[in-house]
Amino acid sequence: MAKHETPLLDQLESGPWPSFVSDIKQEAENRAKNANNVEFQVKQDVCEDILGVLELSYKHGRTHWKHGGIVGVFGYGGGVIGRYCDQPEMFPGVAHFHTIRVNQPAGKFYNTEWLRNLCDLWEFRGSGITNMHGSTGDIVFLGTVTEQLEEIFFELTHKHGQDLGGSGSNLRTPSDCIGEARCEYACYDTQALCHFLTNEYQDELHRPAFPYKFKFKFDGCPNCCVASIARSDMSFIGTWRDDIRIDQDAVAAYVGGEYPPNAGAHKDGNWGAFDIQKEVIDLCPTGCMKYEGGKLEINDKECTRCMHCINVMPRALKKGLDTGVSILVGAKAPILDGAQMGSLLVPFVKVEEPYEEITEVIEAIWDWWMEEGKNRERLGELIKRQGFQAMLDAVGIDPVPQHVKEPRSNPYIFWKEDEVPGGWQRDVNEFRKYHQR
Ligand code: HEM
Ligand code: HEM
Ligand code: SF4
Ligand code: SF4
Repeated sequence: MAKHETPLLDQLESGPWPSFVSDIKQEAENRAKNANNVEFQVKQDVCEDILGVLELSYKHGRTHWKHGGIVGVFGYGGGVIGRYCDQPEMFPGVAHFHTIRVNQPAGKFYNTEWLRNLCDLWEFRGSGITNMHGSTGDIVFLGTVTEQLEEIFFELTHKHGQDLGGSGSNLRTPSDCIGEARCEYACYDTQALCHFLTNEYQDELHRPAFPYKFKFKFDGCPNCCVASIARSDMSFIGTWRDDIRIDQDAVAAYVGGEYPPNAGAHKDGNWGAFDIQKEVIDLCPTGCMKYEGGKLEINDKECTRCMHCINVMPRALKKGLDTGVSILVGAKAPILDGAQMGSLLVPFVKVEEPYEEITEVIEAIWDWWMEEGKNRERLGELIKRQGFQAMLDAVGIDPVPQHVKEPRSNPYIFWKEDEVPGGWQRDVNEFRKYHQR
């Protein structure tokens, strides 16, 4: 018999999609039975109470969590999101319900032993409920009490070789696409770079020192499987600068219907036989492709590396061999002054250990933003306020046409005084010598 009636939530147990309600009920039952005789460090019926308070929110149409919550572990300024229920008498199991962010491995590859050990820890010292994973990338332990935070942190670091993720006005947990681990499009080792920079900037991640939050994300190619261009202040997107490699025999196999276009991604729809002209040549955004006499040609000088042709014919077309990364900056959600995607800052840089060319850009950006950024101003907003040019000056990058989608149309152009012969100091009497009032 469940502790609380949950008629509204019960409706979410039907339908084909995995039901979070059924799963939480199952965990509630597991804890009630306690087959492994765990000495639960948070209330045994925490899962019942989480369903109870959620049911109440469904009924009221409003949240039942109090505002904010400041908890954590010594040495760090972030990593834990404190949270208290506003009906603690009714739902004592979730009176404290703090969330712990645990830094995930790059690409989120696990083995079962590691996950099992982590689950044992969380069953013992937490609610048994998780989020796999937070949008930023962290493993999210959902719901524990303040007294358990240091205990969990001790076990994570001493037994599991595992640190917390980031929260607050700092570098948040970086994340990446699966990259070279299992994708032929990857132009650099996203996991290696993600892992390296996460370690390199542990201090910036654990102890907030910034005007506001800052995120890194790493995509192996412009397909952007981790959406770095939309969801990170500094976005690293793989690309190449030599020619797309064409296997003409494989092109013929696509044209002949032997290989399915897009690796079969549209096979459930009735799109007819593959038409290379219609589906590739005519869709190339720059019109730099040609298919004549059974031969595919690409004018690589005009190719913007959009990935379309490669995505359609992965067995025939491959990224170039001279690969690297583009760095884009400023992506953010709407608050305060409107949503932004990343703007191109560095068109191309090689990704080579020890990644100095990359850390130089990161640190130059931080030097500028940490000094100039207003309180709770994202990098993207500072770029808007002080200008892209101010950023280029600060970072020491020369402006190039690739920095803009189009030139400005307004003529409100600032010049630096030393660029203008004679400077700004003028005498009106000198002017009046030639122009009477
Ligand atoms: C009977 C003659 C004219 C009338 C009634 C007239 C009226 C106007 C009006 C109502 C505006 C819009 C002001 C505003 O919205 O802020 C305007 C703008 C302007 N007018 Fe005239 N105008 C006349 C002749 C001229 C002449 C002869 C010139 C130039 C040789 C001229 C140049 C301009 C310019 C440069 C603007 C500003 C346009 C802009 O900022 O988009 N106007 N005028
Ligand atoms: C070297 C010559 C000139 C310079 C540097 C100049 C500069 C300017 C500037 C800075 C403004 C203010 C723009 C703003 O902030 O809105 C302005 C407005 C205007 N100018 Fe000139 N101007 C020049 C010659 C002329 C001439 C010869 C005419 C007319 C025959 C003219 C007509 C106007 C008009 C109508 C406006 C008002 C536009 C508006 O704000 O609606 N200008 N000009
Ligand atoms: S972003 Fe590109 S390289 Fe990374 S997984 Fe997606 S397609 Fe592959
Ligand atoms: S990658 Fe895009 S721009 Fe380049 S040739 Fe292929 S379709 Fe055209």
